[in-house]
Amino acid sequence: MTQKYAVVLAAGQGTRMKSKLYKVLHPVCGKPMVEHVVDQLNKLELDELISVVGFGAEKVQDQLGDKSQYVVQKEQLGTGHAVQQAEDILANKEGVTIVACGDTPLLTKETLQNMMNHHIETGAKATILTAHAEDPTGYGRIIRGGNGQVERIVEQKDASEDEQAVQEINTGTYCFDNKELFESLQNVSNDNAQGEYYLPDVIQILQSQGEVISAYQTTDFSESLGVNDRVALSKAEKMMKQRINETHMRNGVSIIDPDNTYIGPDVTFGQDVTVYPGSIVDGDSHIEDDAIIGPHSNITQCNVGEGTVIKQSVAANSRIGARVQVGPFAHIRPDSDLGNDVKIGNFVEVKKAEFGDGSKASHLSYIGDANVGSGVNIGCGTITVNYDGHNKFLTTIEDDAFIGCNSNLVAPVTVGKGAYVAAGSTINQDVPAEALSIARSRQTNKEGYATKFQNKKD
Ligand code: UD1
Ligand code: CA
Repeated sequence: MTQKYAVVLAAGQGTRMKSKLYKVLHPVCGKPMVEHVVDQLNKLELDELISVVGFGAEKVQDQLGDKSQYVVQKEQLGTGHAVQQAEDILANKEGVTIVACGDTPLLTKETLQNMMNHHIETGAKATILTAHAEDPTGYGRIIRGGNGQVERIVEQKDASEDEQAVQEINTGTYCFDNKELFESLQNVSNDNAQGEYYLPDVIQILQSQGEVISAYQTTDFSESLGVNDRVALSKAEKMMKQRINETHMRNGVSIIDPDNTYIGPDVTFGQDVTVYPGSIVDGDSHIEDDAIIGPHSNITQCNVGEGTVIKQSVAANSRIGARVQVGPFAHIRPDSDLGNDVKIGNFVEVKKAEFGDGSKASHLSYIGDANVGSGVNIGCGTITVNYDGHNKFLTTIEDDAFIGCNSNLVAPVTVGKGAYVAAGSTINQDVPAEALSIARSRQTNKEGYATKFQNKKD
């Protein structure tokens, strides 16, 4: 078995982005560009994956965590110099090394795999992933000899007029014989327009030694899009969005208006889900069969059960059961866990709360730090008073309890199973199971008061 490695170049500052955020951390469909690349590479089950970091090294490492190993490029002396930083880990190892850039977020594992297969089949020492560009400006151009063989890559800034007319471009992704790569890198110089050690120069070095150089051309230009500025970033966003939405539609999700629907790359769906316009679904969210999302809902990192409807609402980091109704205009905040057949209606905010099956808070409530059993009815205007300015406290509402409208439940407090709380109560002591608790002042009616009051004024 051939050993397989990858080096991801992610040390550049990305001056052309004009941003405080390092280039490779700019998100496309909610995920940083470099993470797209690393995630695709990881699907190839490589023996080593190394990211070269420099500018914003710590932030990049925080983002990628243990998805990668890291080497630091202290000074950004060029892409060839960047790959050399992985020498301590890789040099002298037998195998095949993919080099990819952290700014080509649309690369797919299929293309990477095909390029690697092509590389192994042709017995080449280097294979370049190329593409045909309508407008090749800014990319390195593939220069082929009379026999059609790849000879070298010339950068835009070093290219003659004739060379600039070439539309076959270097996508910045390659496959190399690992040992040959590190040997050739020692011979790369920085004698060029940018004074940098170019990785593409390895091609000419190998070619002049009589080694076989191969090119593998992608049919889909989007895969080669290198994002150097925010114009390209918006193009990447659009292409990625379309790719993601079309994949889900082909797999049985109805997306009513794909141009106005934003689904993150790691979201998964069951069958017959409908997503209405203006919705954003991201993180590792999973939406089960027959759910209806939107219009205008924002769901991050949630599990949404079968047949659940979430209209004009926001939900984050929570589990939402089957046949739940959320919204319109509800807010499910992190760490909530809603059972099946729950209803969270208009203007209800739920935070870190558990709702058992069939429980309802239909209007205008705040339920935070709460443990709500099943079959509970929470009346309009109920508030769990969970915070004293220093600490948060738990409200427990047991199965089948009924909380009357406009009640305050001052935590820590428990309303027992099947108990009633009268409307307008402020409850600061536990309510026993099956009891009725009334905690409001008694009503007094003063007969004839209005007439007397009117007469006085006259
Ligand atoms: C590079 C290629 C070009 C190709 C294009 C594809 C070179 C010299 N040119 O150009 O042929 O068509 O990509 O998108 O390789 N980086 C480092 N350390 C450095 C310099 C760069 O880690 O010292 C990283 C950057 O963070 C980036 C990647 O390498 O992720 C590519 O660098 P960039 O400056 O964007 O190269 P391009 O000019 O786009
Ligand atoms: Ca680039």
